[in-house]
Amino acid sequence: MARVTALLGALTSDDGPLGPGSRSTLRHRAGVPFVGTPVRAHRAVHPAQRVRSPAVGILDRFRLDDRVAVVTGASSGLGAVFARTLAEAGADLVLGARREHRLGETRAEVEKLGRRCVTVRTDVSSPEDCQALVDAAMTEFDRVDVLVNNAGIGTAVPATRETPEQFRSVIDVNLNGCYWMAQAAAKVMAPGSSIVNISSVLGMTTAGLPQAAYTSSKAGLIGLTRDLAQQWSGRKGIRVNALAPGFFTSEMTDTYPEGYLESQKQRILAGRIGDPDELAAALVFLASDAGSYVTGVTLPVEGGLLTS
Ligand SMILES: NC(=O)c1ccc[n+]([C@@H]2O[C@H](COP(=O)([O-])OP(=O)(O)OC[C@H]3O[C@@H](n4cnc5c(N)ncnc54)[C@H](OP(=O)(O)O)[C@@H]3O)[C@@H](O)[C@H]2O)c1
Repeated sequence: MARVTALLGALTSDDGPLGPGSRSTLRHRAGVPFVGTPVRAHRAVHPAQRVRSPAVGILDRFRLDDRVAVVTGASSGLGAVFARTLAEAGADLVLGARREHRLGETRAEVEKLGRRCVTVRTDVSSPEDCQALVDAAMTEFDRVDVLVNNAGIGTAVPATRETPEQFRSVIDVNLNGCYWMAQAAAKVMAPGSSIVNISSVLGMTTAGLPQAAYTSSKAGLIGLTRDLAQQWSGRKGIRVNALAPGFFTSEMTDTYPEGYLESQKQRILAGRIGDPDELAAALVFLASDAGSYVTGVTLPVEGGLLTS
């Protein structure tokens, strides 16, 4: 009985049953004075909790006006497309990755769309870097409404040759990094917020290449999504979902062996590789109030690859 009581205590002791952690404490931890950007006071009513008038149309539910989205791995490929799309939907952006000059390019595109954007050099395998990225969002915007855990690396090494370091390095970024980011974000997210983890169809099936580390990390991310949804959906009002993309052209898929992508096309019912905008549309659904009753799921966006 004492053990059950201790467990229940642990479940409610982190930052209360519903509310986010103290923002003033967090800002103090960040140690950054508020210069330039006027910080909005903590709202009594989160945009996602406003009582909806019947006049709010279905398309308005997909909008992210006044929301703040953190996107990791936004320096290239899908992450850059996600950042642009979320900005187009009305969100301000906080972007993290290791290549700062490439992050700057994504920031310029976000700003061209009229949204504000902050970039922070971030290695998601470092819990401290993940905390610093969320701290930067709080310093600049005083809120985090959406987290997109997109940073990832892909390797292909035959299992008998893969070293512990090679295997661990992939897990460290693709799985552990998502957890460190989610932990940091969930401490400050208000009810109505959304976390979207970018998994892969390779978390659910195989596709010919020797990818034990990558597939393990992406399958693990589906489990992480399920468990965080269980912990946070009801208690904190934070939805946690994942996308499982099929094949989309990016710097990662550019490294595939010649002919590999072409060979995979026969498995895809749609008969073609995906356009990143098709994936970004699903992201907006999960990130916005349009997906307000969806949590704990992994949504495949793969042109029917898993069905074939
Ligand atoms: N493209 C596809 O077909 C496909 C399919 C399924 C899943 N995915 C997933 O989609 C996500 C994006 O991949 P992509 O295809 O767009 O490939 P990409 O162009 O290579 O993008 C990967 C991003 O992750 C960042 N990253 C890598 N290691 C990092 C680290 N330690 N800390 C912070 N950021 C890091 C990279 O930025 P820096 O190098 O600047 O750090 C880059 O911005 C990945 O999680 C990938 O597994 C892609």
